[in-house]
Amino acid sequence: MSDSTSRARKAAMIEPEASSDTTKAQSIIQSLREQLHHHNYLYYALDDPQLPDVEYDRLLRQLQELEVTYPAFITTDSPTQRVGSVPLSAFSQVRHEIPMLSLDNAFSHQEFADFNKRVIERIKSASETDIEFACEPKLDGIAVSLLYEDGLLVLGATRGDGATGEDITQNCRTIRSIPLRLSGEGIPKRLEVRGEIYMPKAAFEKLNKLAMSKDEKQFVNPRNAAAGSLRQLDSLITASRDLEMCAYSIGVVKLALNGRALPSRHTDILYTLSEWGFRINREMKAVSGVNECNQYYEYLADKRSQLPYEIDGIVYKVNDLELQQQLGFVSRAPRWAIARKFPAQEELTQLLGIEFQVGRTGAVTPVARLKPVFVGGVTVSNATLHNEDEVQRLGVRVGDTVIIRRAGDVIPQIVSVVTSRRPPGTKALVFPVRCPVCESPIVQVEGEAIKRCSGGLICGAQVKQAIKHYASRKAMDIDGLGDKLVELLVDEKRIESVSDLYRLELESVAALERMGKKSAENLLAAIEYSKQTTLARFIYALGIRQVGETTARNLAKHFGDIDGLMNSATDVLVEINDVGPIVAGFIVDFFQSEGSRLLVQKLREHGLTWPRERPIITEHAPLANKIYVLTGSLEELTRDEVKEKLQILGATVTGSVSKKTDCIVAGPGAGSKLAKAEQLEIPVIDEQQLLALFDAYRNFL
Ligand code: IVH
Repeated sequence: MSDSTSRARKAAMIEPEASSDTTKAQSIIQSLREQLHHHNYLYYALDDPQLPDVEYDRLLRQLQELEVTYPAFITTDSPTQRVGSVPLSAFSQVRHEIPMLSLDNAFSHQEFADFNKRVIERIKSASETDIEFACEPKLDGIAVSLLYEDGLLVLGATRGDGATGEDITQNCRTIRSIPLRLSGEGIPKRLEVRGEIYMPKAAFEKLNKLAMSKDEKQFVNPRNAAAGSLRQLDSLITASRDLEMCAYSIGVVKLALNGRALPSRHTDILYTLSEWGFRINREMKAVSGVNECNQYYEYLADKRSQLPYEIDGIVYKVNDLELQQQLGFVSRAPRWAIARKFPAQEELTQLLGIEFQVGRTGAVTPVARLKPVFVGGVTVSNATLHNEDEVQRLGVRVGDTVIIRRAGDVIPQIVSVVTSRRPPGTKALVFPVRCPVCESPIVQVEGEAIKRCSGGLICGAQVKQAIKHYASRKAMDIDGLGDKLVELLVDEKRIESVSDLYRLELESVAALERMGKKSAENLLAAIEYSKQTTLARFIYALGIRQVGETTARNLAKHFGDIDGLMNSATDVLVEINDVGPIVAGFIVDFFQSEGSRLLVQKLREHGLTWPRERPIITEHAPLANKIYVLTGSLEELTRDEVKEKLQILGATVTGSVSKKTDCIVAGPGAGSKLAKAEQLEIPVIDEQQLLALFDAYRNFL
């Protein structure tokens, strides 16, 4: 059942067991139907989905399988026999001239191969072995039918139950990717274009952020947000939402008197639609045979998480319309198309407990311990709950059944709580007031959602994290000093800070559990080896808040040595590439702390060295002490690239023009800054002159 895409529903589920007992089968069928009806109603009529799609699909499949075994129990009102659900009465109803079909699903390569085999067997005239298929992403939104008369949009309708939908013309008119008037050659007298209305991921995030800031209910997923936005009676609300429409097929067509006939391949029809003003999916591709279809599957599955919109599979369509005709359709789905579903990204599981983890900077993060569940291709047993606000928003309690989502490489999230399955006696979560590790008070900085342990380096958790970070590959890269060993060394009181690493003795390390002399020797050798490092690694290893590798590299390049950095002030720091006022503040705070300065001193005393980086600002740098301003747009380089190169050459790049400015780099669209520069008679160069300058100084860059 493909029209269940991205549903999220909640329900008490019955697990029907295979049984030869006919009466038992009948009662399971009955119960499954009731559940499915209920969730269809919640989803379509109330717009309040409460069960993940996989769960819905599973129920539907169970019902389909039972109906195959017991065909006598099939009734015309079974959810397997229809496409959607009751339209809301507030919108007027629209009868589709040609029913809007649904799609069958394939959940594996095998099921797709079976579909392909059925297609080949059915094609009467066929000597075909490799069928040409149009492959399209299965967009996760709402199906729409748009009717154009003499090129003008006259009706927009939802699919509804496939036969009757709702008139959402006003709302459709607010969506910019829906043409109000078709343009181009050979436009039919009447044309129905079908497609998907969806909300891009970024727009969904933005909408939810806004809802959160207003303390309003958030949408569970982009599909749900698109549905909610479309079924607004007030089209102004729809207009305020970022919706897109992508065309994927046509329905009714009546050619104009001297109009051109439509192409005979599905992909060509879509290209024609694109000529007439519709958005079509740029990932669409025509391929031949099962192998190429499977390759497309791998390609798109890989790309899925980077796409700016949600998809839940691929739709394969026989590309030749003549063959489509021959194949026809069964009650609710065409025989010439199938939806190949991706592994589910949402699943149900149970929250077993909540732990509070303390990070390197003291951030106290609630982490959900889950009953292990297979989702998004991996088994997940933990999910971050981010912060107290998130816990409040979800209203999650230990023992709850939760919907967990894992999309791409993104860390698993709890999407929502299935409150109808909450067991009795659960309690609302109380955020601790003291650090679970060192018992120092937990504090919250105004304006920050995160609460932090105030223990600093007396907090074992923070010490451990700081040492783990220090030893990590991109920092000091101490081979063999993994997380477990750091915990053991701290727990066994062998070390209290990173500088203690350099005082470790062979015997004391070898005596540790599961260590032995050889491993201890290797560890000490790796620690010794780490003393020869680079300034960038060392800065990164210190674990200053928000100073990642790139910032560390920029700081190292800029200052050349640690002393300059330790004594720098915010106004100098903010001139460095990648450093904003917040990071600059963290750097200054870090080096103002007596403990940090002492740590750097101790580490140097232990013999840590790095080759002096060639500092950017030296008297010998060609643009030393020069102040540059960039304005207008650049074509060959990005602003950041230009800024970095100028800084390497010793210049400072500032945002405003003053008497002190030495040179302006002006591109197309330069405005008031250029005018001011001209007024102050400051030299102005364009991008080409700048490139020539970089070329002249290429040895420095
Ligand atoms: S073709 C007869 N193509 O999937 C074929 N459907 O049940 C009808 N969908 O909700 C649909 N992307 O809105 C087709 N590229 C695509 C699609 C697509 C998403 C949705 C459609 C409907 C469901 C099909």
